[in-house]
Amino acid sequence: MQKNRVIIFDTTLRDGEQSPGASMNTEEKIQIAMQLEKLGVDVIEAGFAAASPGDFDAINKIAQRVKNSTICSLARALDKDIKAAAEAIAPAPKKRIHTFIATSPIHMEYKLRMKPDEVIKRAVEAVKYAKEFVDDVEFSCEDAGRSDMVFLKEIISATIEAGAKTINIPDTVGILMPFEVGARIKELYEFIGEKAIISVHNHNDLGLAVANSLEAVLNGARQVECTINGLGERAGNAALEEIVMAIKVRNDVFESIETGINTKEIYPTSRLIASITGIEPQPNKAIVGKNAFAHESGIHQDGVLKNKLTYEIFSPQEIGLDTKDTLVLGKHSGRAAFKTKLEKLGFSLSEDEINRAFEKFKELADKKKDIYDDDIRALITSQMSNISATWELVAMQLMDSTGGVPSAAVTIKDIEGNEFTDAGIGDGTIDAVFKTIDRLTGEHGKLMDYKVKSVSKGKDALASVTVQVAFNDDEPPVIGHGLSIDTMVASAKAYIGALNSYLSMAGKLRKRDSKASL
Ligand code: KIV
Ligand code: ZN
Repeated sequence: MQKNRVIIFDTTLRDGEQSPGASMNTEEKIQIAMQLEKLGVDVIEAGFAAASPGDFDAINKIAQRVKNSTICSLARALDKDIKAAAEAIAPAPKKRIHTFIATSPIHMEYKLRMKPDEVIKRAVEAVKYAKEFVDDVEFSCEDAGRSDMVFLKEIISATIEAGAKTINIPDTVGILMPFEVGARIKELYEFIGEKAIISVHNHNDLGLAVANSLEAVLNGARQVECTINGLGERAGNAALEEIVMAIKVRNDVFESIETGINTKEIYPTSRLIASITGIEPQPNKAIVGKNAFAHESGIHQDGVLKNKLTYEIFSPQEIGLDTKDTLVLGKHSGRAAFKTKLEKLGFSLSEDEINRAFEKFKELADKKKDIYDDDIRALITSQMSNISATWELVAMQLMDSTGGVPSAAVTIKDIEGNEFTDAGIGDGTIDAVFKTIDRLTGEHGKLMDYKVKSVSKGKDALASVTVQVAFNDDEPPVIGHGLSIDTMVASAKAYIGALNSYLSMAGKLRKRDSKASL
């Protein structure tokens, strides 16, 4: 790697997935990984293999599919984590184990209950063990932002000696100011020299994650860990698109520094992740927000019409937002046009998957005149999120709730095609539908969040419903997406989607048992 090339380490599938409500199934993760590869990401942190069999499986499948990016798994400084990481990434042509342990006094004392010298010993053992499986080992000093610099240098020397090639200095709690990050990275760069690559991983609790990452680059860091749309735990991680575009647009400041990112894939990647997670970037979000290129005031509009550079510091085309793309699909569009559109939107589907998606597209085109990019994204992501469907909605009938008791009759089918029907009442129509689905499946979901939005424009717009449901108090809630011209049908599909995700993630893919029969 050249000295001035900044390695882009994407952790959307690991730290990003820790965003509340952002959990994804394996098929969704594979699609994202394939798009990250197309984007030119150097390292994809595909997950935390020891966290669950679902995480392991997703990393392993990504390792089988991605050829150009390095596939990485996170692992605590524990043998069992490192072994799981090594096994999960084994099929990847380029692979990395990322092991970590906390180094701040507060974490060592209260979380780890370990003395500093025990922490160093554990870190060294972890790096050495990881080196038995792969050459490319990264070591992270968790909560480095609040760690003592003398101790940091000690553990960094020891882990480099043990074989770590990348040393990550995370601001885990997002507390540092840019000047503090700059000073710390400068000092560490002078200390480490070229013995290892310095990486940074900044959280956004004070809204400074991107500024801190850029300051680190200016002071010698040559890897930045970031996520698409800034997804991540709490206030999120540094946004990949903002870091990359800042380095590109301000090449007067960053001089010869560059990334390997194909910026034209930024917008498709951002949209793909928003439609899979159901988490939309805020409208005024830098680079990829809906309003990032909208010029509302008359003075601005006038200026832009005369010369775009009056108010635009880079063109939307540079991030792959083709404002002139008028290819709207409809009833008469053929498979070839549909396939081209899918590729343009960043989907990597097999011929079989394209055929299934094309059938859904044709069904939709019978009901909806113009089909926009967002409709297609929603169509494909809803197909992906229901890939491991244990249950499927067959039919639904709602009884008028005006003045009466809201009620719903629902028919669903199981994986073998057996149909089950029941009817129930509720406090509102949605409550009636969800309660009836619970009775039919024998599961009991607690609705934590419900969002409905229109996918594109027109009175015939598709309704996209995202629900967050807790099926078990001991496990995190799952999300489900439903898509239909009819909002109630979309709601039922979303609820069933969440249930399917819960069942497949928990490895509980099962048939309807006798207890659930009515
Ligand atoms: O924020 C953090 O410290 C992390 C580490 C595991 C790298 O995510
Ligand atoms: Zn983090």
